[in-house]
Amino acid sequence: MQRILSGIKPSGDLNIGGYGGALSQFVKYQHEYESFFFVPDLHAVTVYQDPAELHQRSREIAAYYIAAGIDPQKSAIFLQSQVSAHAQMGWLMETQVHFGELNRMTQFKEKAEGKEGVSSALFTYPALMAADILLYQATHVPVGDDQKQHLEMTRDLAERFNSRYGQTFTLPEPITPEIGSRIMSLDDPSRKMSKSNPNLNSYILLQDSPEIIRKKLSRAVTDSEGMVRYDWEHKPAVSNLIEIYAVFTDESTDVIEQRYAGQGYGMFKQELADVVIAKLEPMQQRFREIVGSSELDIILRQGAEKAAAAANNTLRKASEAMGFVMFE
Ligand code: TYM
Repeated sequence: MQRILSGIKPSGDLNIGGYGGALSQFVKYQHEYESFFFVPDLHAVTVYQDPAELHQRSREIAAYYIAAGIDPQKSAIFLQSQVSAHAQMGWLMETQVHFGELNRMTQFKEKAEGKEGVSSALFTYPALMAADILLYQATHVPVGDDQKQHLEMTRDLAERFNSRYGQTFTLPEPITPEIGSRIMSLDDPSRKMSKSNPNLNSYILLQDSPEIIRKKLSRAVTDSEGMVRYDWEHKPAVSNLIEIYAVFTDESTDVIEQRYAGQGYGMFKQELADVVIAKLEPMQQRFREIVGSSELDIILRQGAEKAAAAANNTLRKASEAMGFVMFE
């Protein structure tokens, strides 16, 4: 069976961008692949995290995985820091990646720009991400658009390693959804929706209340044409809203366009809020039940055990291939 691995960093509250590009995909693919869904907490700390917040958010991301519909009986759900093979394989990958390759990563440039005291881990982050994926011999990795460059690097490192040391790693393919792989800010359709945007109305969080969701969507920028038409080139703001609608209903953009043909933006925005709320409310309820429960602890422990078994196997193979002395 083919395998997927993916994760969402616990470095900010989850927004509907992460839902569209990643979480909704995880839920969809869990039945078709053997699946590993992890919380990349080691990645989160490449930028300072308040310890109490990191702790809480790590649990929250895992709880959202379950609340969104990932079945922990079928898929391993775990915290990255609980499977030490990630850090170990991360080091092996750092020995393979070139400085120049890391230097070309656009995410590093964006995140480091204008900041002081940028950690070296933020720079080498893609090596750890490659390790995450290769440890599980993942065939596919569901991600949003912004992670594609990291996936390409992962493939390059796998190929380099295999040709230097012998066939060890599977080359993974990214899976990006046609709709929802790049959800943009509600205040500016040229910027990715992100929690780091200082304008609180620019993103919708998975935990937002119905009133807040309505308020944010009613303020979302549109254009002066007054037609609900899917056309990224000429109508990026409206196209973004149509994509959000599509993510939350699984309908095609054509169907949505036709439904609102000849109507202005008022009704469209109201009904967009309805469909977002209809999906998020039951998820929030399940989230509240699970986030502080011992059930979550059990799921995470069992997930880490299952993950460690797979990961340690590959770590051993890679370590032997590189020539490290290994005892039984
Ligand atoms: P992260 O935590 O920034 O984002 C998690 C996932 O959500 C997607 N995403 C979006 N998709 C559409 N529109 C948006 N506005 C949006 N914002 C975020 C991201 O593309 C991503 O798929 N490096 C990764 C975490 C990671 C990982 C991995 C992922 C670490 N190791 C191994 C896959 C496999 C990250 O920072 O994603």
